Amino acid sequence: MTPPAAAPAPGALAAAIVAHYRRVRRELPWRATRDPYAIWVSEVMLQQTRVATVIPYWERWMARFPDVRALAAAPLDDVLAAWAGLGYYSRARNLHRGAQRVAEGGGALPGDAAGLRAVPGIGPYTAGAIASIAYGERAPLVDGNVARVLARIFAVEHDVKSSIGQRTLWQLAGTLMDALPRDAAPGDLNQGLMELGATVCTPRAPACIGCPAASACAAHRDDRTDALPTMPARRRADELPVLAQIALWVARGDEVLLARRRPDGLYGGLWELPAGATLAAARRALGAGAAATPGEPLFTEEQQLTHRRVRVDVVAARVAARARLVAPGDPGYDALAWHRTADAVGGTLGVSSLTAAILRRLTDENAPWSSTPRPSPSSPRATRRSSTASPRSATTSTTTTSARPRRARRRGSTSSSTTTAR
Ligand code: ADE
Repeated sequence: MTPPAAAPAPGALAAAIVAHYRRVRRELPWRATRDPYAIWVSEVMLQQTRVATVIPYWERWMARFPDVRALAAAPLDDVLAAWAGLGYYSRARNLHRGAQRVAEGGGALPGDAAGLRAVPGIGPYTAGAIASIAYGERAPLVDGNVARVLARIFAVEHDVKSSIGQRTLWQLAGTLMDALPRDAAPGDLNQGLMELGATVCTPRAPACIGCPAASACAAHRDDRTDALPTMPARRRADELPVLAQIALWVARGDEVLLARRRPDGLYGGLWELPAGATLAAARRALGAGAAATPGEPLFTEEQQLTHRRVRVDVVAARVAARARLVAPGDPGYDALAWHRTADAVGGTLGVSSLTAAILRRLTDENAPWSSTPRPSPSSPRATRRSSTASPRSATTSTTTTSARPRRARRRGSTSSSTTTAR
C-alpha cells in the first residue's frame, strides 16, 4: 500500500510555482502595470472568460474608462455596451457600482486586501488578486483553477464548493503564501497558481509531466487526478426551474423595439425584446403609448443558466403608426426605445446572449419570416418554430418587405411604414 502522503514543504512548493510562472508567464497587457484599477478590471473580466477574449475588451475598456472616476461617471448603458459580448453582465454592473463608491471617497482604491473587500462587488478573490499583484501584499486567493491545483496537491477530499472545502482551500493558499520566500513576489505566486490551473493542471488530462508541483502532488502520486477535485453533483437540466416568457418582436426599418431591464436582478440594465409571463403581460410591457397587436408565434429560444432555464416564445407584433413610446408598463423595465438591430447583435448595445441569439435568429436570411412582409398579425408567413426543430430554408417567393430592414429598404418597399411609431 502507498504510504500516506507527507505534506509537501510549503516554502519549496511556493518557490517552485513562482519559478515556473516566471519562466512560462504570458506577456499580457495588464501584467505591464501595477495600477490597481487596471488590475481590478482585468480580474473581473477574467473571472468567467478566456484570456484571448479578454485582451481586446480590456484594452478598449481602459481607453474608454481609464480610471475609477471615468468609470463611475459613465452611464450604466455605456458600461454595459462596453461589456457587450463578454456575458455575465452582473460583473460589469458590480464594477460600475464599486467604482461609484470608490469615486465618492475620492477615487483611490483602498491600499490593502481588507480595505478592498469593503468595496461593493470586490470579494475575497478579487481583493487578493489586486492586493497581491498591485501592492505586493501577501494576500492569498482561491478561484476555480487554484482550487483544482490545491485540491490535487494536498488531496482535499471535500467538495470544493462546500463551505468546509472553501475554508480548507483558503487555509492552504494562506499557508503557501506565508511560506513564500522573502524575495519572491506574492502576485507571482497567485498568478502562478492560476496559470498552472489554466494551462497544466487542467480539469481533464492534466499535463503532470512538466508540472513544477508534480513531485509534491498527492493526486499525481496516487493516480487520482481524475477523482480530484471533488465537485458538487450537477443538477440535471430537466430538474432546473423554468422561467417561461413571451417576447414581442416589433420591428421597423432596421430598428427593433427594445425594453431595458431595471438595474438589479436577472439581466439587469440590459436591453431585450419586451416580454412578460403571458402575452397580455408582454403587451403591457410596451406601456400605454404603444399597445401592440400580436401575430403568430415565430419560434422558441432557450437558455440554460446555472440555476434555471429561460424559455422565450417569440411573437411578431406591430404597433400603431403613431404610437408614442412613453414609460414601459412593467415595473421590471425602466426604458423603452428603438435600437438598430445591428447594434444589438453586433455588440455595441448591452444585450444578454439570449437576446442576441433571438435577434440573430430573427435576422437570419434563411428564416421563414425574413423575406416576408413586416411581421404582422395577418402575416401568412409567421410560423411556429421550436428551437429544436431543424432550420427551415426560405422557401417563399414573396418579394415585399423583409424582416431584414436594410434589404427591405433597398427593395423600396413601403409596407413597413405602417408600423412606424415614435
Ligand atoms: N485568471 C484570472 N486572473 C488571472 C491572472 N492574473 N493570471 C492568470 N490567470 C488568471
